[in-house]
Amino acid sequence: MADVNDFMKNVAPEDGELPEWATVTFDTSTPSIARVYDAFLNGKDNFAVDRQVAQAILEVVPESARLAQDNRAWIGRVVTWLVGEAGIRQIIDLGSGLPASSNVHDYAQRIAPDTRVAYVDNDPIVLAHGRAMLDVNSRTTVITADVRDLDDVFDNDDLRALIDLDQPFAILLASVLHHFPDGQDRAVARMLRERMSPGSYLAVANVADPGTDDRVEKLVSAARANGMDTGFWRPYPQHRMYFGDLDLVPPGLCPVNEWKPDEDTPTESPVHHLYLGGVGYYGG
Ligand SMILES: C[S@@+](CC[C@H](N)C(=O)[O-])C[C@H]1O[C@@H](n2cnc3c(N)ncnc32)[C@H](O)[C@@H]1O
Repeated sequence: MADVNDFMKNVAPEDGELPEWATVTFDTSTPSIARVYDAFLNGKDNFAVDRQVAQAILEVVPESARLAQDNRAWIGRVVTWLVGEAGIRQIIDLGSGLPASSNVHDYAQRIAPDTRVAYVDNDPIVLAHGRAMLDVNSRTTVITADVRDLDDVFDNDDLRALIDLDQPFAILLASVLHHFPDGQDRAVARMLRERMSPGSYLAVANVADPGTDDRVEKLVSAARANGMDTGFWRPYPQHRMYFGDLDLVPPGLCPVNEWKPDEDTPTESPVHHLYLGGVGYYGG
């Protein structure tokens, strides 16, 4: 087990007691979703067991590293659009993951510094590491909660202090639903839609199975053989259900690199059809 107190040596006051979140220990014997994803992004907040999963997957499909990169770039474009074009000033990033090179508040506050961002994840390592890089000003916060228990998320005092749920907000749900089994994915999406106030947006992206790509089976087999029991690749109609009756913002639900691409978006990604994303709008 690694102890977060090692990590805290550099940031905790010498004579002060560590806060509760800083006393968490991490299970380093089984891979965690957040840490494996971090390994895919060449992050440093992962352990050998996590890197083993990433390496096994990259061995069978080397270009799959692009999946995480394309997804992160999509998040950047979505947030830029939500804040810059749609006028959104409140964002709830569900299953936010470990800090990356550019985070949601970086994109948002670059355009509108008053944008408030609540990061939510159920892995305590995200809170521990996120305090330093995500909870950086009075307009950001990081909380630990499970998105399958939305009362836990939406009744959280820190989130409520930052986000006015009666005003429009955006929910980001990137690479989270594909970790939930069939049925639970749709249920979470539906319950989230029911929480949206008029003028709000729901942005969702997940790995996808186009039905014609034999790399999907290789990716799943490598993950399962190395201790990752989640990561479900689903066909387009299942992704479409996440948006229910919401209006899909053009260009709709599509491969992430086709969603409002900018000059940096690769049009020839080798994993182009393996990641779908879209943004839904609730007019009220
Ligand atoms: C693949 S990472 C995606 C991170 C980020 N959203 C992105 O797309 O770059 C999935 C994240 O969802 C989190 N997660 C998985 N199940 C969750 C749950 N039930 N509640 C909250 N977070 C969850 C994991 O801990 C992980 O950090």
